[in-house]
Amino acid sequence: MLSQYLYISTAPTLPREEVDAILATSARNNPVRGITGLLLFNGRNFLQLLEGEEGEVAALMERITSDPRHSGVSVLDHRAIAARTCPDWAMKRVMIAESIANRRDMLERDLPEGLDPGLRKMIVNFAVLN
Ligand SMILES: Cc1cc2nc3c(=O)[nH]c(=O)nc-3n(C[C@H](O)[C@H](O)[C@H](O)COP(=O)(O)O)c2cc1C
Repeated sequence: MLSQYLYISTAPTLPREEVDAILATSARNNPVRGITGLLLFNGRNFLQLLEGEEGEVAALMERITSDPRHSGVSVLDHRAIAARTCPDWAMKRVMIAESIANRRDMLERDLPEGLDPGLRKMIVNFAVLN
């Protein structure tokens, strides 16, 4: 069964290099495990969408939850999916524009088309917070 998780977490003092390191680890591990998704970091909080076989994603969620680089992992959504929404992304870094006014447009462009409209809304709402 393919499944998808959406979570947020907190990392108020995490240096940008650590975000790069997380993305490098994801690029190395995720293809082997059939995991795809996207990661946003707004300087304080992460939001990550993960998808893959339920067993693989659940195991990764456990590792991520106990990762000391962030805390307060809170799952916003967990559902079975018929198809991946980001099949080509081992872990896409979704950048958040500096200007709040530009964020919605940028995300509308960057977020995958097959994304459930409710999840899309949650991600955009997260990205415009500050
Ligand atoms: C916000 C966040 C997102 C992460 N996403 C992934 C991921 O998609 N894939 C992954 O393998 N590790 C991810 N990690 C890192 C894992 O917690 C863990 O450090 C890593 O899987 C260990 O891999 P290694 O044994 O190859 O070093 C993430 C960590 C954080 C803090």
